[in-house]
Amino acid sequence: MSRKILVTSALPYANGAIHLGHLVEYIQTDIWVRFQKMRGNECWYVCADDTHGTPIMLRAEKEGITPEALIERVHGEHSRDFAGFNVGFDNYYTTHSPETRACAEDIYGKLKAAGLIEVRTIEQYYDPVKQMFLPDRFIKGECPKCGAKDQYGDNCESCGAAYTPNDLKNPYSAVSGAKPELRNSDHYFFKLSDPKCQAFLRRWTREAGRLQPEASNKMQEWLGAEGENKLTDWDISRDSPYFGFEIPDAPGKYFYVWLDAPIGYLGSFRNFCGKQGLNFDDWWKQGSNTELYHFIGKDILYFHALFWPAELEHAGYRTPSKIFAHGFLTVDGAKMSKSRGTFITAESYLKTGLNPEWLRYYYAAKLNGTMEDIDLNLEDFVARVNSDLVGKYVNIASRCAGFISKKFDGKLASTDAAWLKPLRDAAENIAAAYEDRDFGRALREVMALADAANVVVNDRKPWELAKQEGEEAAANLHAACSEAIEAFRLLTLYLKPALPKVAEAVEAFLGIQPLTWADAATALPAGHTINAYSHLMTRIDPKQVVALVEANKESLAPTEPAPQKHAEKQEKAVAVATAQAEAAKNADAHISIDDFMKVELRIAKIVDAGHVEGAEKLIRLSLDIGEEKPRQVFAGIKSAYDPAALVGRLTVMVANLAPRKMKFGMSEGMVLAASGADDKTGGIYILSPDSGAQPGMRVK
Ligand code: MSP
Ligand code: ZN
Repeated sequence: MSRKILVTSALPYANGAIHLGHLVEYIQTDIWVRFQKMRGNECWYVCADDTHGTPIMLRAEKEGITPEALIERVHGEHSRDFAGFNVGFDNYYTTHSPETRACAEDIYGKLKAAGLIEVRTIEQYYDPVKQMFLPDRFIKGECPKCGAKDQYGDNCESCGAAYTPNDLKNPYSAVSGAKPELRNSDHYFFKLSDPKCQAFLRRWTREAGRLQPEASNKMQEWLGAEGENKLTDWDISRDSPYFGFEIPDAPGKYFYVWLDAPIGYLGSFRNFCGKQGLNFDDWWKQGSNTELYHFIGKDILYFHALFWPAELEHAGYRTPSKIFAHGFLTVDGAKMSKSRGTFITAESYLKTGLNPEWLRYYYAAKLNGTMEDIDLNLEDFVARVNSDLVGKYVNIASRCAGFISKKFDGKLASTDAAWLKPLRDAAENIAAAYEDRDFGRALREVMALADAANVVVNDRKPWELAKQEGEEAAANLHAACSEAIEAFRLLTLYLKPALPKVAEAVEAFLGIQPLTWADAATALPAGHTINAYSHLMTRIDPKQVVALVEANKESLAPTEPAPQKHAEKQEKAVAVATAQAEAAKNADAHISIDDFMKVELRIAKIVDAGHVEGAEKLIRLSLDIGEEKPRQVFAGIKSAYDPAALVGRLTVMVANLAPRKMKFGMSEGMVLAASGADDKTGGIYILSPDSGAQPGMRVK
């Protein structure tokens, strides 16, 4: 029976650009949703911009526009970026909507009726110039512990101390610079400390499957031991001026942004129900038998695993089936950095001309369903995509499709071959890995199958069969290529959640309906006509990645006219200069002729060759380069050559490589050989000079 599944990603703030860190989440969610749809489940993916709060209000003011105009513009930018990465929301909405307002008012009203809302007077910093209460992050001052200047209201960047804004010495408003005053104000609280909430959360956070084990442990820490009451009431109101929803019956008081943000999930879905003709209550009322999953980053677990289920539970709504938290993105092992150019925006990635499916594949290969951070290693990114996607996967089609078109009128022979059975049978294992969000495991399995398919293609060598005369060779060629195309179809099916656009192109090339998981069980029939093959995916040129990092480097010119302290300025200038020097080094992918001439290449005659006991890949070569004694070199070419066949041949060696002591003896140089991305797919080919070259001649 098909499942009914509602999926969300966290709502990105409407005051910033989408960057590669965000995309970990939206790509992860999108892959999972696409997988569910391919399984035939009814699965909806909704999201929205998170539009309320002080920072958005102030940002709009600074730009001289209304908050409404700002969030509308950003909504366009976000939608464009997500579409660019093929993130296929069923609805991408905004929290600044009538639906979200209605849901917020409903939930608030029900919590109030349940006795879970309380009004209390609190003392808070007020900016008398700007005439507003200040959120913690807009109050600065001296650290109460070490005295460091210009520290934020919650913790000291200099000594690491944590405190409240009221502890700061000589506080000032980061908005106007004025000295803030402590003033009283009435605030609305959600009574999380109520025994009802505590008991519910203790039970809910421990229920099997709700949270990942790491998350569940964190929750028990936050909840404290049984009988302990560690949860404090949550302040859900803010005073005017504020950009948000005014609280019913409380003029001048607004819902705090984090109150209406998750309610934005409901708002977006309610809006979608209107368009799609779905019944909202079926999905959201207590007792609903649909599934609900929130994909989020580990930084917002507190909101989603405590406040959110407690609110829903006590307002008559269903709670999430599971919360899926992921880790944070690092680039080259470090936090994303504007000065290093690793704070990479989605827009710049697309503008640089990089293929979004490269990043989707790389993230998928790294994701495993835990809360561990994931690293985008730029060098590994290039190597992995080129070797897996181009070298292994696309390679199968590109080597076989042309023969079908040219020699067989585009028609396939039977694809009923025993070697394809394991590829077909892998469908359920791969599905289980996708279901567990262990995309890394899914893709490892797919690549192992691609390796196996390449071995078969290499063995049957269609390019050689094509040169042979006669019917038997033609039949063999037809079978080899048809079966390879069927293997390629299956691999495409398994990769489709991660690579939707490539899969679409393959479906057009094969002339088939959109692939679903059930299609793993059937095969392309004999006589099926495929279309002409055109290139599916290119290799990443490392220069594109250099350009991307360059494009994201923050320029030397200060963007803010605000005076910076001398030391800070100097530090920044040094950082930028270092970054630029590094960039210049990287940007110059060429070497000089002097660099090249450092490598001493010489013609070598193989005077002897033999196996090396205990070495799987090596052949021992004796190379005459006109010296008194031949050189001994160990070469990793055993998979491709029989030693006896090498004796007497001429080749090219690097003669000035530092000698290296190996387990089997000294290696005194290196022979040159061509190979593909890895030795399984492409083979190994040692070089030979044209006839006439003599041992010892320099190659340059
Ligand atoms: N607006 C809130 C979420 C409200 S949900 C009801 C918010 N927005 S955000 O724009 O800061 O982040 C959106 C999502 O992207 C969050 O789940 C966050 O964890 C994730 N990420 C933001 N930066 C990230 C990385 N560097 N790495 C991985 N995920 C990151 O939080
Ligand atoms: Zn300090």
